[in-house]
Amino acid sequence: MSIDNDFKDYFPNPIKTIISSAVSSVSGIPQSDIYQNLQEPPDSAIGDYGWPCFSLAKIKRKAPPVIAAETAGIIKPHSIIEKVSSVGPYLNFTLNQKATIQTVCENIFAQNEKYGSANIGSGKTIVIDYSSPNIAKPMGIGHLRSTVIGAALKRIYQYLGYKVVGINHLGDWGTQFGKLVAAYRRWADQKAMDDDPIKELYRLYVKIHEEAENDQSLEDESREIFKRLEEGDPEITALWRKFIAISKLEFNRLYNLLGITFESEAGESFYNDKLEHTVKFLEDKGLTKISREALIVPLDEFKLEPLLLKKRDGSSLYGTRDLAAAIYRYETYKFDLILYVVGVAQTLHFKQLFKTLELAGFEWAKDCRHVSFGWVTLGGEMMATRRGNIFFLEDVIEQTIARARAIISQGNPDLENPDEVARKVGVGAVVFSDLAVRRDTDVSFEWERMLDFDGQTGPYLQYAHARICSLIRKYGKEPDGRADYSMLKFPEEFSLAKKLLEYPDKIKSAAELNEPYIISAYLLDLAGLFSTYFQKYKSPADKIISDNSELTKARINLAWCVRVVLKSGLDILGIDALEKM
Ligand code: ARG
Repeated sequence: MSIDNDFKDYFPNPIKTIISSAVSSVSGIPQSDIYQNLQEPPDSAIGDYGWPCFSLAKIKRKAPPVIAAETAGIIKPHSIIEKVSSVGPYLNFTLNQKATIQTVCENIFAQNEKYGSANIGSGKTIVIDYSSPNIAKPMGIGHLRSTVIGAALKRIYQYLGYKVVGINHLGDWGTQFGKLVAAYRRWADQKAMDDDPIKELYRLYVKIHEEAENDQSLEDESREIFKRLEEGDPEITALWRKFIAISKLEFNRLYNLLGITFESEAGESFYNDKLEHTVKFLEDKGLTKISREALIVPLDEFKLEPLLLKKRDGSSLYGTRDLAAAIYRYETYKFDLILYVVGVAQTLHFKQLFKTLELAGFEWAKDCRHVSFGWVTLGGEMMATRRGNIFFLEDVIEQTIARARAIISQGNPDLENPDEVARKVGVGAVVFSDLAVRRDTDVSFEWERMLDFDGQTGPYLQYAHARICSLIRKYGKEPDGRADYSMLKFPEEFSLAKKLLEYPDKIKSAAELNEPYIISAYLLDLAGLFSTYFQKYKSPADKIISDNSELTKARINLAWCVRVVLKSGLDILGIDALEKM
């Protein structure tokens, strides 16, 4: 199976569903095509949704404007669709404000935190390989981005009913462990190992790489040690395990801070006993060749460099382990889709991997995707977190939290739990920075920017949420969804309702494109609309809470719906929706 057709007939927006079904019945064009192509006209005076008539014009062999006008004449208005009209090739639909606000609010009240969720994925499994840092090195800022994107995708798919298996493919095997053991034996400082083991390991790692450049005997020794590790030498194995334990402790601190979990932590070494079988399988299929004493899968026919299976000395490689891992994962989870959330630098690797799986005859090779992302850099002041010649992610996050703490104590000195709030705001700022742009766009971390409470940031969204919470506290009652929505006459109230209506489709597109940014951008729009609305009306009668209790009720209900959607979106992105800040 695969997930390819899961989205086609999923129509989560009830109003677009009504429109597309009406157009489909008069035109004979499949509803999914219409639903998908409904657009927002540039000016809402023209309509709230528009459909370009080109495909229909082709079928009817008439000019698109003629078809648009004819079709507009035969579609009957509906309680929600006030007017059907045409402008040029577009068929336009104008919604009734009251009916729209009522429909969306009732929907959100009925579904609450499940609004936008679905069960289109029920019975299907998606494997997501994310984070996957390397043992004995500090987790890099690129691994953070993989972690944040992968975890968001996991929640997006879970929201749509898929079973998701998150895998941390730890880099815990490879010739570098021979080097590390050699370095440890020569230069390890036991006191440093006790005080800051990850840093000491990293020092050893850097030192041996430097020294080995001019000393062939170190290379040979390291290779020899790795060979003994592969053969199971107990002493070397014990050291290797020690290195893993040290690194994992460090990684887990970060995962706890960010609220990250995995269903499996099978790292590269997990596949050691499966490599021979995998290689033999490929050899039997006639896919391999010896080239300069190494065993490769030639891929020049596909304009790709060969995939390396075995080095001259017989040792396996990253790609060999990924092949075994993919096969094992399919056998174990029978996935419908597997995502590898890994930086753009590994594009070639994944092309080679997927092509080899396809050549080996695995039908599921088409369900493998490299969800790549751009580079992450640290800007200006963040450089100060360097220790040695690398950034320690934890330092960056801790500093962000400290700065958030300072901003918060200035803005709201009476907050009861400032440390907890600062931690959530700091983490929210870091997480959002990785999701604030499309995956393929590079990002630069800068404190000023990521902690700007008025900017395109996580804290801005958290603040918008907290502000609505405070409004509802002030109102004093939990809204129940019942209100006379015809009282909501402001254009901003209509815009907010239409924005809320879009949320489920945003979840859908975020999944279709593996792009959590769609949700980030949407939340910024929603929060922006709310804040304009909130700030625009200053006179006592126009404020959200006024003397008119019926009107207040309707407005609070709408605000409550905005809160539900902000919280849902923030949860999916991995950011805490704060009630006070
Ligand atoms: N550990 C690798 C690195 O840091 C990333 C692993 C990604 N996952 C995979 N199955 N290859 O570059």
